[in-house]
Amino acid sequence: MVTMRCSRQQFVVCLISASAITVFSLVTQFLVLFQSNSYTIKKRCSGYESSEFSNKIQHRTFNKVTYKDYLDRPSSDLTRLQNEWRIDATLFHNFPKEKRYLTIGIPTIKRVGDEYIMDTINSLVNNTRPEQLKDIYIVIFLADFNETWREDISGRLNESYPQLISSETLVVISSWKSFYPSLENLNHTYNDNYNKRKWRSKQNVDYAFIFLYCQHLSTYYMQMEDDIYTVPNYLKVVKDYISTMNFPWTCLEFSELGFIGKLYHSYDLEKLAKIVLLFYEEQPCDFTYLYFNTLMLQFQRIIHRPTIFQHVGLKSSLPGKVQPLKDRFFDNMEKTYKGDNPPAKLYTNLVVQSSFTPESAYFLEPGYFWSKGNGKRGDWFTVVFDDPQKVKKIVIVTGSREHQTDKIEHGKLQASLSLLSIDQSQPKCTNDIDLGYLTGGVLKVDNLTSILGPFRIHCLSIILTANQDWWIIIKEIAVFVAD
Ligand SMILES: *[C@@H]1O[C@H](CO)[C@@H](O)[C@H](O)[C@H]1NC(C)=O
Ligand SMILES: *[C@@H]1O[C@H](CO)[C@@H](O)[C@H](O)[C@H]1NC(C)=O
Ligand SMILES: *[C@@H]1O[C@H](CO)[C@@H](O)[C@H](O)[C@H]1NC(C)=O
Ligand SMILES: *[C@@H]1O[C@H](CO)[C@@H](O)[C@H](O)[C@H]1NC(C)=O
Ligand SMILES: *[C@@H]1O[C@H](CO)[C@@H](O)[C@H](O)[C@H]1NC(C)=O
Repeated sequence: MVTMRCSRQQFVVCLISASAITVFSLVTQFLVLFQSNSYTIKKRCSGYESSEFSNKIQHRTFNKVTYKDYLDRPSSDLTRLQNEWRIDATLFHNFPKEKRYLTIGIPTIKRVGDEYIMDTINSLVNNTRPEQLKDIYIVIFLADFNETWREDISGRLNESYPQLISSETLVVISSWKSFYPSLENLNHTYNDNYNKRKWRSKQNVDYAFIFLYCQHLSTYYMQMEDDIYTVPNYLKVVKDYISTMNFPWTCLEFSELGFIGKLYHSYDLEKLAKIVLLFYEEQPCDFTYLYFNTLMLQFQRIIHRPTIFQHVGLKSSLPGKVQPLKDRFFDNMEKTYKGDNPPAKLYTNLVVQSSFTPESAYFLEPGYFWSKGNGKRGDWFTVVFDDPQKVKKIVIVTGSREHQTDKIEHGKLQASLSLLSIDQSQPKCTNDIDLGYLTGGVLKVDNLTSILGPFRIHCLSIILTANQDWWIIIKEIAVFVAD
C-alpha cells in the first residue's frame, strides 16, 4: 500500500479547522455584503421589468447576463433574465424542461495536445444503463472562446450522439465573453505565475456559469472534469450512497481528486456559484468548494470509497501543466468469474478499510475486500456457508488492477468440513483439507469433486503463510457448486 499523501485539500481542511475565526469573519463579511446590496437590487430590478415588453431579440442582445448580475442580485429577481440566458447558452434544441435526478456538469476548454472530452462522455454514457439515461443530464460546457474549436467539438458531439442530444440527455452549452469579469491585472495569490492565475480565474467563472445553468435541471448536481473515466453502473453507487445519508450534508465526493465527482443538492448551486465568483481571483475552485462546505456547516469531507471516477488527463488544460494525479481509491471493481456463491457469512481477523467489507469479496456486485494494514503470517479470512456445500470449483483472486502489490504473496486455501462454533466473530472450523497455495495472488481448484468425493464444505479459509509488506485486497472469491 502506498503511504498516505497529505493532499492540498486535506491541508486546506486543516487550515480551516485551525482558524475558525477566519471562517467566522468570512461569514460576517458575507452578511454585510448581502445587506448592503439589498437596496440597489430593488432599484435595478424595476428596470428589468420594463424591458420585458421590448423586442425579445433586442432584449437578448443588450441584456446578456454577466457575472455581476449574480453577485449583485438575489436569485428571485433574476427569473426572467435566467430563462433568456439559458436558452441563449444552449447549442442544440431548447433549454431542457423536464426535471431529472442528476446533472453531470463538465466544463471543457481547448487543450494543447491531448483531448479527452470524447472519451469522458463515452465512459459516462457507456457505463449508464440505457433505461437510466432519462434520469440524467450530461451538460458539456464548451468554455473556450475559440469559435473554430467550439464548432469542431459541437459538430462532433452532434455526429456522435444524435439520440442522446435529441433525448436531451446530452446538453451542450456555451457562454459569452461579457459574462466574465476582467481577467487582467489579477491579484497575486498562491505564488502562481500570471498565466496560471488567469487560467484559474477564468476556470472559476466557467464553473459558476455551469452551476447557474444547471441549477433547476435536476435534484442533484455532480461536478466532473473533462478527463475522467468511470465504472459500470456508477449511477447506482451514487443513488445508493445518497439514500444511506441519514444526516444533513452539503457535498458528497465520489473521487478524492480535484473537482471531480463532487455531488451537491441543486438548490445549493447558486450559493456555490456566488462564492466561487466572489473569490474567483483568489482561490482555485477545488479549494473554494471545501471552504463552501465548511460555511454550509459540513466540517468533514464525505468521500465514498471506493471512488468511482478516475482522472486520466496527464496534460492539464493549462498549457504546459502536467497533472499526473491519480485517485488511490478508484479501481476496476467488477467480478470476473462470478461463481454461484451460495449464502454465507464472512469473517476475518484483518482490519477492514471502511467500505471494503469482507462481503465485497464474495458478493457478486462490484467491490472487493481491502485490509487496513499489512498482512501477517496466520491472518485469516473465512467464508462460512449457511448450509454445507458440495463444491466443484473455487477461484480466489487477490490484488487488483490499480493495486497489484496488494495481492496475497504467501497464502493457502483450506476447506473445512465441520463448523464447531462462532465465537466473538471467529469461526472455529475443523476437519481441514488443504486445497492449495496461491501463486501470483491467484488460486484455482477445479477438481474438487475428485478430491472431496461426497463431502460437503462448511468453511473456506484463506490463510497467510508469511508476513507481507502490503495491504491485502481480496478481489473475488468464486465458488461453483456441484450439481
Ligand atoms: C462500451 O461498452 C461496450 C460493451 O458494453 C464495449 O464493448 C465498448 O468497448 C465500450 N466502449 C468504450 C469506449 O468504452
Ligand atoms: C482556434 O482553434 C483552432 C483549432 O482548433 C486553431 O487552429 C486556431 O489557431 C485557434 N485560434 C486562436 C485564435 O487561438
Ligand atoms: C446536427 O446533425 C444533423 C444531422 O445529423 C444536422 O441536420 C444538424 O444541422 C446538426 N446540427 C448542428 C447544430 O450542427
Ligand atoms: C488587487 O488588490 C488590490 C488591493 O487589494 C486592489 O486595489 C485591486 O483592485 C485588486 N485587483 C483586482 C483586479 O481586483
Ligand atoms: C487436482 O488438480 C491438481 C492440479 O490441478 C493436482 O495436483 C491434484 O493431484 C488433483 N487432485 C486430484 C484428486 O485429482
